Amino acid sequence: MPREKNTFYVTTPIYYVNDVPHIGHAYTTVAADFLARFSRLKGFDTFFLTGTDEHGQKVEKAAATANQSAQEFVDRVGGQFRELWGKLGISNDDFIRTTEERHKKAVTTLWKTVAEKGDIYLGEYEDWYCTPCESFWTEKQLVDSRCPDCGRPVEKLKEPSYFFRLSKFGQPLLEHIEKNPGFIKPDYRRNEIVSFLREGLRDLSVSRTSFSWGIPVPGDEKHVMYVWFDALTNYLTATGYPDDAKRNEKYWPADIHIIGKDILRFHAVYWPAFLMAAGLPLPKQVFAHGWWTIEGQKMSKSKGNVVDPGAMADKYGVDAFRYFLLREVPFGLDGDFSEKALSGRINADLANDIGNLLSRSVTMIEKYRAGKIPAYEPSAEREELEGRVKFLLAGLPAEFEKSIGELNFSEGLSKVWAVVKELNAYVDKSSPWKEKDDAILSTVLATLAESLRILAVYTWPVMPSSAQKIWESLGLGKSIGGVRFDEAASWGGTLTGLKVNRMPPLFPRLQ
Ligand code: ME8
Repeated sequence: MPREKNTFYVTTPIYYVNDVPHIGHAYTTVAADFLARFSRLKGFDTFFLTGTDEHGQKVEKAAATANQSAQEFVDRVGGQFRELWGKLGISNDDFIRTTEERHKKAVTTLWKTVAEKGDIYLGEYEDWYCTPCESFWTEKQLVDSRCPDCGRPVEKLKEPSYFFRLSKFGQPLLEHIEKNPGFIKPDYRRNEIVSFLREGLRDLSVSRTSFSWGIPVPGDEKHVMYVWFDALTNYLTATGYPDDAKRNEKYWPADIHIIGKDILRFHAVYWPAFLMAAGLPLPKQVFAHGWWTIEGQKMSKSKGNVVDPGAMADKYGVDAFRYFLLREVPFGLDGDFSEKALSGRINADLANDIGNLLSRSVTMIEKYRAGKIPAYEPSAEREELEGRVKFLLAGLPAEFEKSIGELNFSEGLSKVWAVVKELNAYVDKSSPWKEKDDAILSTVLATLAESLRILAVYTWPVMPSSAQKIWESLGLGKSIGGVRFDEAASWGGTLTGLKVNRMPPLFPRLQ
């Protein structure tokens, strides 16, 4: 989390509109949503951006196949992402489309700035191109005459092209990476980029003449800009670049670009080089997460195993799906998706652990205290049991923040769930149903209610509607999203006298 400024700017990649949204897109976006929500709980002025990448040869081809103009095509299919994010509870503050006027203006300005500094020149491109990846390759880089990244066929290009003087920025980039160890994360990804840079960089072709679906090069409109030059600039556009200097200064540089490992080179080499050339500050961090396979297989349309996040959310619940994505695999590593693993998580962590803790606590408060949360009555004799609960909760904010600061969502959530498990054990040890002493019984019930209140705060970034339900079960009225983490995550004892509300099980057990 940021320290110097009171703002936090987090982005996802902008997704190609020609594809249907799948679990990979949902993964990055849910992770960014978690960070944005947590940043808001921390009281930071947060800006969370996502959007769609609508230009380029790939989109032009898809539009032609669909028998539509490119603009009609992107207008029609682009909505799928917006719809999905609404369904998954994504709290983005802006949604950028690269076909918007504000973006064209930003990209054109960035191009002109770089060109004026002398870092764009006209030449001729003669080599290979992978349209699915929208990337250029030399003969030597090809693997079995195919794209070294995705393994698909490439095509030979020979056309006039503007070049960006990328070769000039290899050394400055290496220096930047060395001075800023947090710039590329995880560390093993940084090492890959360092090796790539040490091999030396070739200048990059940044315009095309053989198709037209893109932003024209200023002053030479036969050329359209390379789709990655166009797409990467979205992160600046949304901050108000170039017209709104005040807003741009407020949010730029971005605190973090979250991306998949497939597009690290574009974000950790090309993008910072463009920015350096334009004399603009570099993003503070680029974090590349791992890839999902599906039951051990690469996800692909031809295999027919593409996981639809909307269908998963309908079948298992939005919050359960979000929780699974962030809990199952340490962010950074690859993971494997299966419905079996998803339902296993739901039964263990959600139904048995947090769901059960809430329902047994509310049931006991209803049964023994007519639904009113009793006051905590400290007693020396019992200090050991409640003391342990308080001790665990007192240590949790720093532990959780450390994990989340490193984007280790899985670790952060497992720390929270360790406390949930302890609380269920605390109920068993205290056996309120056998307790004859009124004060002790009140203390146990008050401890449970207060602990659940605190746990709801931790679960909000990953499971916003379930957290809100826990909140309301405890008789708390307003939106949980409006609380401040630093106060709300500590022991307060503010629930005395509130009336609990019993609700249907948060996470019903799956067969
Ligand atoms: O690359 N597992 O868009 P894109 C995890 N438009 N994440 C995955 C995934 C998987 N199997 N498959 C995809 C583009 N992703 C460009 C980006 S940004 C200026 C331009 C996620 O639609 C992951 O975040 O191909 C990956 O980086 C992104 O989808 C690629 O989305």
